[in-house]
Amino acid sequence: MLKIKRVHKSFSCCCSPLQRRGVGGEVRSIKIIVLYFSILLLLAGTQSCKTVTGTLNVDKELAYCLQQVSKTLQPIPTDRSLPRCIASGQKEWRYVDYRDWTSGFWPGILWYAYEFSNQDKWKAAADRYSRSLFPLIDSSAIDHDIGFQLYCSVGNGYRLTKDEAYKAVLLRAADSLATLYNPKVGTILSWPREVPGVDWPLRHNTIMDNMINLELLFWTAQNGGDQKLYDIAVSHAAVTMKNHFRPDFTSYHVVVYDTATGKKVKGITHQGLNDSSMWARGQAWAIYGYTMVYRETKDLQFLDFAQKVTDVYLDRLPEDMIPYWDFDDPAIPNAPRDASAASVVASALLELSGFVEDKEKAKMYYDKAVAMLTELSSERYQSREVNDAFLLHSTGHKPNSGEVDASIIYADYYYIEALLRLKKMADTL
Ligand code: GLY
Repeated sequence: MLKIKRVHKSFSCCCSPLQRRGVGGEVRSIKIIVLYFSILLLLAGTQSCKTVTGTLNVDKELAYCLQQVSKTLQPIPTDRSLPRCIASGQKEWRYVDYRDWTSGFWPGILWYAYEFSNQDKWKAAADRYSRSLFPLIDSSAIDHDIGFQLYCSVGNGYRLTKDEAYKAVLLRAADSLATLYNPKVGTILSWPREVPGVDWPLRHNTIMDNMINLELLFWTAQNGGDQKLYDIAVSHAAVTMKNHFRPDFTSYHVVVYDTATGKKVKGITHQGLNDSSMWARGQAWAIYGYTMVYRETKDLQFLDFAQKVTDVYLDRLPEDMIPYWDFDDPAIPNAPRDASAASVVASALLELSGFVEDKEKAKMYYDKAVAMLTELSSERYQSREVNDAFLLHSTGHKPNSGEVDASIIYADYYYIEALLRLKKMADTL
């Protein structure tokens, strides 16, 4: 069983016992000094102040992430090559170009590396790769993923630098995303193109993942963009809340709508096991998405809903807190895991724990997030010397045998985001 405490901060150099007591010549004092430095050595990492929560040393895990980022950065062929995944048993990243839906996560990771370390080398790399995505705004949105692509990269870049070039790109990206909104339905069309192997070609469809892209619309509405972007985001969240969930608050991956009337046709899956199963990452996007929508709207119906979609996920998690790729796979416990869903949820739960008024429930969410991050940081999930990613054991698209039990860039992105969130929370306690 994991031993998890709320949070305690460990030694800070500015309150060293040596400063308060003096060393003297006595054996006892020497023992204390030796003990003190031994503990410091034990906790040693790149930073002088440490954030430790339960058995999880957040600074150490962040330092580990930076080491892996260095290893990934060094051999990348060009600024147009973005690492996406490493297949199980392989060492090499598979690279994609800026049009891939995952293109924003690598620059986003570099921005987080910069945020943690304040080192210019990460800023320079993050800037370079963020700029390599700028061509995305030169053509109309080919799907909802423009939010993932540009908010995780350029969005973080703007947050940390206030570079006006980033802001201009984000404003245009949000307008582009909004062109996919269908007012009859009240949601964004996630896939405006034909999707292989489906029986609903070109009908209005909305996928759960699309919730994450609302953050770009909220941000834009608050940063000089059109106010109608806020209304679109709220409508998308509300209509999705109504149509995308079963009575037990588990999510369909896709909902197909009648494009002309806006009526719901059916709820189905694309990446999950079947139409009535709980696909782990889909539920993770719901947890993250509704937590973020509450942050942006302060509408309590979204906070209540975020807890409902979270609770069904937590109730059905295995003891080690890392979900199988789909909660209903009959092959469990021999089914693949999805560390990416665990990373997304860990990050979301930290935020959710700060919104929930019921102190016991808030602590439960916080503690579960810490437990997830503790397990992800173990030798069972960290890649370490196996490959250059942060994490092993994510599952991308099992039904088409894509990225099963792999290292995937978005697992790493939400893992480092969650560690940084935890560090900030722990440091302010
Ligand atoms: N947004 C695609 C996925 O979660 O796999």
